Amino acid sequence: MITISISYSIHQMIKNELDIKRRKAMDEAEAKKADLYQRFPRLGEIEDEIHSAGFRYNKAILMGTVPAGSAVDELSDTIEELRKEREHILSSNGYPADYLKPEFECSKCSDTGIISSSSGEGDTLCICYRQLLLDHLYNNSNLCISGNEGFASFNTDLYPDEPDEKRYGIKKSPRRQIIGILEDCRQFTENFSDPEVKNLLFCGPTGTGKTFMAGCIAMELMKAGHTVLYFTAPALFNTIYEYRYKSGNNDEWDPSAYRNILETELLIIDDLGTEAPTATRYSELLSILDSRISNDTHRPRKTIISTNIDLRSLFEYYDERIVSRITGGFDIYRFAGDDIRSILR
Ligand SMILES: Nc1ncnc2c1ncn2[C@@H]1O[C@H](COP(=O)(O)OP(=O)(O)O)[C@@H](O)[C@H]1O
Ligand SMILES: [Mg+2]
Ligand SMILES: [Zn+2]
Repeated sequence: MITISISYSIHQMIKNELDIKRRKAMDEAEAKKADLYQRFPRLGEIEDEIHSAGFRYNKAILMGTVPAGSAVDELSDTIEELRKEREHILSSNGYPADYLKPEFECSKCSDTGIISSSSGEGDTLCICYRQLLLDHLYNNSNLCISGNEGFASFNTDLYPDEPDEKRYGIKKSPRRQIIGILEDCRQFTENFSDPEVKNLLFCGPTGTGKTFMAGCIAMELMKAGHTVLYFTAPALFNTIYEYRYKSGNNDEWDPSAYRNILETELLIIDDLGTEAPTATRYSELLSILDSRISNDTHRPRKTIISTNIDLRSLFEYYDERIVSRITGGFDIYRFAGDDIRSILR
């Protein structure tokens, strides 16, 4: 059984990807150089001369043998002249001055993924690294939310401003309700690794933005480098079923599918209640929720469940143990409003 964490292997994968890019840029620069030096052998001589002058320069400084200002200046003048000669050869033959520099995809970090701070206050990840990480996390998340940029994409104007308890089942207007939920969801993402922060249960009628909100949270967390895994309830139970009953006699079965359900930092179970209810499924769901309890701030495990079933029916529909697990470990949010799908149409 492999026990390294998922995020570790993702970082390893990104490092490899960057290494490949970097090496490619360097190889291409080497090939260009070899080609150019063949045509202009003087360039090779210049390089050697710069090297040996540089070597003597360093040595002179290290040994402290020469009084400052004489030989040292002379050597740096020599190097400067050699550089000029090289530039001249390049430009007079129609090559740009930086022709021999490797062309890295990211000029900020030269495809290392890391920006070393000039003040020496520790290195930071380059924006290109963050993007690669986000791509990896997204590609492994099962999510299809390419237009969703996170909370910035969440529009509260789509919710009615007028309270109507009969219609929406809550005293507040749906807009005030969703503004409160949005704020709490922001808190959830900001304090994601805090073991005190509970899981989220979204309930409410179809088209009130439950899946969309889960997607916004997912996006924000992936931007922060967390692993996310999205399943509709039927797909989740299907994956578990395959793991239990098909993994034994199938060599091509990938056990990581099940392991990821347990280990992903955020698990989204969408549309709970749309699967056919069976006792086995309840106990599967329980064991997943149980094994996803984590008090380790470095390995947060949080779950978002969404359901169209109203709370009272959920409690009738589901096994007692599940309901008490949910009421104990989840903050419950009631989404209300009109069906946004028909508003947007
Ligand atoms: N707050 C929002 N801002 C922008 N688009 C939204 C918002 N909420 C929902 N949508 C859009 O409305 C549609 C229905 O929302 P959805 O999240 O699927 O509802 P639910 O999961 O509650 O049934 C989706 O196409 C979604 O993209
Ligand atoms: Mg939905
Ligand atoms: Zn970069």
